[in-house]
Amino acid sequence: MTLHDAADWFTDASLVEDPLPYYARLRAQGPVVREPHHGVVVVTGHEEALAVYRDSDHFSAINAPSGPIPPLPFTPDRHDIGPQIEEYRDQIVYGDWLVTRDRPEHTAYRSLLTGLITPKRLKRNEDFMWRLADRQIGAFSGCGSFEVISALARPFTVMVIADLLGVPEEDHREFCENYALVPAQIGDTQELAHDPLEFLGRYFTRYVEERRQDPRTDGLSALALARFPDGTTPSIADVVRLTQFLFTAGQDTSARLISAALRFLAERPDLQERLRGERDLIPNYLEEVLRVDPPVKCGFRVARVPVKVGDLDVAPGTTVMLLIGAINRDPRRFEDPDELLPDRAGAREHLSFSRGIHSCAGAPLARAEGRICLERLFDHTEDLRVSEARHGPAGARRYAYEPTYLLRGLQELHLEITPRAGPPAPRAA
Ligand code: HEM
Repeated sequence: MTLHDAADWFTDASLVEDPLPYYARLRAQGPVVREPHHGVVVVTGHEEALAVYRDSDHFSAINAPSGPIPPLPFTPDRHDIGPQIEEYRDQIVYGDWLVTRDRPEHTAYRSLLTGLITPKRLKRNEDFMWRLADRQIGAFSGCGSFEVISALARPFTVMVIADLLGVPEEDHREFCENYALVPAQIGDTQELAHDPLEFLGRYFTRYVEERRQDPRTDGLSALALARFPDGTTPSIADVVRLTQFLFTAGQDTSARLISAALRFLAERPDLQERLRGERDLIPNYLEEVLRVDPPVKCGFRVARVPVKVGDLDVAPGTTVMLLIGAINRDPRRFEDPDELLPDRAGAREHLSFSRGIHSCAGAPLARAEGRICLERLFDHTEDLRVSEARHGPAGARRYAYEPTYLLRGLQELHLEITPRAGPPAPRAA
């Protein structure tokens, strides 16, 4: 079925602020529809999306973060375009990122992360998060107001991933200042470089070279010394690309989760009061935020061979869009899908971290970041309120979102707070 709709997901800026009506129009036409502007097959059904995510034999992830823009640099001309994708990979935007690799290379590259994301290192990193959250929140909690993204979410998530990797502290500030990439921009006519994150490469090349010479106990050393499953050593360039990607994947997404979680709490005093009183609901609340307002709105695959998506036959080379924001509200999977329920059973069934071989490697980290920020904000403050001066009164709020078709993130979130009298409560265990 083809969607008859004037709105173009990839260029229409009016869909950025509130994509829900678009999701509903698509869903009304079935769980899988072809949109008319780019010929993209769009999936809004949970079951149909899971089937695509889990089928890496028939679908390639070569376009995972970019979708149909820019198009593949070749005309699909055979039954299985897998070999064609590999032939052109080095001309494809983000083509050497972990997230776009297909098997068997993906398996080999992903295995390099095993020594980095270990329970022990995550625990140490979590200890760091508690201290960092205190430091950052302590810096503004006496002021009565703060801007969430610049004062908390972004610096917090940059520092956390820098700590996980072991980026030297003297470079932290420069990382924070230089890092401002927003991919898949609507209306951006600039041509994307094969690797738009090149600047990070300079730092990481130095770090990886140093750690190969002089290993330490940090995350960068674990990556620098990791071997492929067949025992061979990855090139320095391979390790650098992986760390660049981790650094990128690991921060703005989490920052978007933190700002979304705080916006809902500031908008809904009832919810805030409940969570302040029942802290053990925070993890499930975060799953619900991820479900109803996913930081990554959609993901992409390309059909390698003639294959079915739901009941639709698609040809090799067809772009498939997994519209996560809509999938997470599939009423066949979630009862009252539009309700944000902190005690919803099965909230983790959302697809905001994707599924299958590319499922998010940093999900435990993102969950810990969100939980710790909320816990410590609750400890340092009596309440959090939306700034009416900045966002308008309740019922007529103004929020600006990043103009991208891929990501969902507030540009600014101004909150007012009442600091707690006396020292903040001790950190939760
Ligand atoms: C709320 C925060 C986050 C969200 C919503 C998120 C979302 C995603 C999604 C949707 C994918 C899969 C893309 C696909 O299947 O095409 C992914 C992959 C990935 N994420 Fe995350 N992510 C988050 C945080 C993080 C963090 C903190 C890290 C790192 C420390 C991280 C590292 C990765 C990596 C390495 C992959 C690639 C996995 C692969 O291709 O094998 N992410 N993420």
